[in-house]
Amino acid sequence: MKDVTAIILAAGLGTRMKSNRQKGLHSLAGRPLIFYPIRAALEAGIGRLVLVVGHQSDEVEECVSDIFPDADISFAVQEKQLGTAHAALCAREAVGESDDVVVLNGDLPLLGPDSLKGLMDACTASGGMLAVTTAVVDEPFGFGRVIRDKSGLASRIVEEKDASPAQRKVPEINLGVYAARADHLFSTLDSVGDGNAKKEFYFTDVVELTKKAGHGVGIFVLPDETQARQVNDRVELAVAEEALYRARALRLMAEGVTIHRPESVLIDDDCEVGRDTEIWPGVELHAGTRIGVGCTIGTGTILDNVEVGDGVLIRPYSVMTDSVMEDESQAGPFTHLRPQSTLKHGSKVGNFVEMKKSVLGPGSKASHLTYLGDSSVGSEVNIGAGTITCNYDGVHKMPTTIEDGAFIGSDTQLVAPVKVGKDAYVGAGTTVTKDVPDGALALSRVQQTHIMGYAVNRKKK
Ligand code: UD1
Ligand code: CA
Repeated sequence: MKDVTAIILAAGLGTRMKSNRQKGLHSLAGRPLIFYPIRAALEAGIGRLVLVVGHQSDEVEECVSDIFPDADISFAVQEKQLGTAHAALCAREAVGESDDVVVLNGDLPLLGPDSLKGLMDACTASGGMLAVTTAVVDEPFGFGRVIRDKSGLASRIVEEKDASPAQRKVPEINLGVYAARADHLFSTLDSVGDGNAKKEFYFTDVVELTKKAGHGVGIFVLPDETQARQVNDRVELAVAEEALYRARALRLMAEGVTIHRPESVLIDDDCEVGRDTEIWPGVELHAGTRIGVGCTIGTGTILDNVEVGDGVLIRPYSVMTDSVMEDESQAGPFTHLRPQSTLKHGSKVGNFVEMKKSVLGPGSKASHLTYLGDSSVGSEVNIGAGTITCNYDGVHKMPTTIEDGAFIGSDTQLVAPVKVGKDAYVGAGTTVTKDVPDGALALSRVQQTHIMGYAVNRKKK
């Protein structure tokens, strides 16, 4: 393969977003917009990238370096946003000696790597100077229109604002994704002017200039027009995000995951789901959540960076963050796992159970109405309904330890720091303030007394 560099244009603020944040930093399907074109270039086998940044360049650079720490990405700054031709010229030095370049607008999240490969092939086939990516769409409004010559090659691109009524009817749009020979491109860009409706230096002018210089401009038509979704404003962002979620759901179904009402399910791009797992409506999987095989994820459940093993059952409306559910464990309905909670193999939490920074050991259960905070619970422990670890004295957080085989009766308070020993029992309604020795029964109840005849006497009054 020839030495190719991808230039990604992302210096504009994105005025139509009406935002204080640069457009590329807006998130869709769990990733910032700028992530998608970078990934497409890398997956197409393009090893070097130059990102043209301008507005909020520090934030954009930091964001990109965080997501792609190992990729060969350099940054070129475009101080003033004078147009897409000017932006591409800013990358000239960083591109260096590369033979070829692929130039992409930074606001096309659905463009796939195969399309970039197809584009590079179209460039080679048309003489190797320049090729553009197009799509034929029902609603071309807002895009540049591609005007073809008699031989079917591109002769020019006209922007919406500069187009005549007849040109506006052309359904073939310019995507803003080009392949070119690097030296040809930069020398042609040098002669682009700003004589147009927006008084900007348009990249699209290189098409006409290349043709006038006697070279053919190739066209790669996208096989599927959803890849042409650009994000200029918030409505387009929502449309593109929906398409990304839909594509993710379709891929998972193809891999053997059942998804009920997939249009209601939001699975971020970096989440994994194993085969024969069943996902019910309204589920959201975010931030690198990984789910094993043969699990059930109940309606309305939201998992954020959660590691789920195999054969796990999560009943409806559970919310979990930065946590782990090992194989065969169960949760919900209405379980809340806050960060650093682990359900070990075969353990179970039920409705209205909240955990934070706690481990529930293998085979242990907390089936109803319980709070476990800063707790370490061993194996085969039974935690009765309404058990609360009192882990916070208003200043410090303190640990609770419950050892293997212990039985905690209902409505128990465990005032931390405290430990319940192996096989110990805690009677219902106990407030545990001292460590309970192994095998002992802890009780802190007031003796029950009876006042005989009370009801009859009361009625007489
Ligand atoms: C551009 C194309 C249009 C095409 C459309 C497809 C031009 C003149 N027009 O229009 O033919 O149909 O994309 O998506 O190229 N940018 C810079 N510096 C600048 C200007 C823009 O880096 O000075 C970046 C933006 O951040 C953005 C990209 O270039 O990522 C495209 O800019 P945008 O303003 O969205 O171009 P469109 O008007 O959509
Ligand atoms: Ca755009």
